[in-house]
This record gives sequence, C-alpha cells and structure tokens, in this order.
Amino acid sequence: MKKIAVFASGNGSNFQVIAEQFPVEFVFSDHRDAYVLERAEKLGVTAYAFELKEFDNKAAYEEAIVALLEKYDIDLVCLAGYMKIVGPTLLAAYEGRIINIHPAYLPEFPGAHGIEDAWEAGVAQSGVTIHWVDSGVDTGKIIKQVRVPRLPDDTIESFEARIHEAEYQLYSQVLDSLGVERK
Ligand code: GRF
Repeated sequence: MKKIAVFASGNGSNFQVIAEQFPVEFVFSDHRDAYVLERAEKLGVTAYAFELKEFDNKAAYEEAIVALLEKYDIDLVCLAGYMKIVGPTLLAAYEGRIINIHPAYLPEFPGAHGIEDAWEAGVAQSGVTIHWVDSGVDTGKIIKQVRVPRLPDDTIESFEARIHEAEYQLYSQVLDSLGVERK
C-alpha cells in the first residue's frame, strides 16, 4: 500500500478532501497556527507543525521533514497549498515522489497567485494542474490538468470557488491513477 503525507501551509481544504477519501499518514504544516491543523484534529489525522524560522537554515528544516517522511515510510508527498519552494535537501531525498497542485493551467500563470493572475489577465478559461515537483517553481512534469471556464457573470470569488472544486476532483483522480488505495 502506498503511504501518503500531505503538506499544507494554511486553510487545508484540499487536505480535507484528500483525507476524507484516502488514508493519510500525517499532515505537515510550516505554520503552527494554520487552520489545516484544526481540520486534521477533527479528521483524526496525525499532524506535525514546525516553522523554518525555528531552524538555523532551510537545510536543517528540510532534514527534520525528511526524518518524518522516513519515520512514516512515506511513498508519496502531496503538496496542497504548501507555500514554500521545495529545497535541495528535500528534493535530494524525495524527488520523483513529490507532487503539487497548482490552481492554473501550467505553464500558464505559475507562482503564488495563479487564480488572481488568470482573473486579472481576463482569460476565458484557466484550470488546475497537478505536477511532479522539481527544483523550479511550478515547472515539473505535468501529471494531469483540467480546464476551468471563466463564466460571463463570474466574480473573482465564484471563479475561485470553481477552481477549488476542480482541484478537489483532480487530486482524487491523480491519487487513484498513481495507485494510492482509497479508505
Ligand atoms: C490551492 O488553490 C492550491 O492549488 C494552492 O493553494 C491553495 C490551497 O488551498 N497552491 P487549501 O489550503 O487546500 O484550501
């Protein structure tokens, strides 16, 4: 059975949808006050949180993450709103076993504001992408992506909500396709 961990920095709605359908060994947050930790508690999922600033440098921070991944024998790391760039230490240990979800149709609108950037560009459609993580920002090999239309009467809020709905469906589909067993 493939064991997964989810990394999330804030809200954690993607984590919640994943954890409702798939066994999650643990969730990790790089913010001790992230709402995702409350979601984990309600769902009975083990959670860990520590912050980069608590370590001497990013390598030491990522060594602590790698130790957790090894302790739980994790096969696949699922980034879901993890707002840090994966550094060389974590990549050296886990490259090829880390996936990320991005709220745009890569290579369109990479970076931290994929939804807002697509909205401001006035596109007729954006999308959602799940990709393997490499050393770039949202550059890794694409696993699966889906288009999401911008409708004539959309506000940024309704557009964003439609993107998130597409994210929840796409993550589950990709985990199925990668052979992660459901609960
Ligand atoms: C998602 O839109 C994800 O694609 C992006 O950050 C957002 C996280 O949302 N990278 P949530 O924390 O899963 O609610």
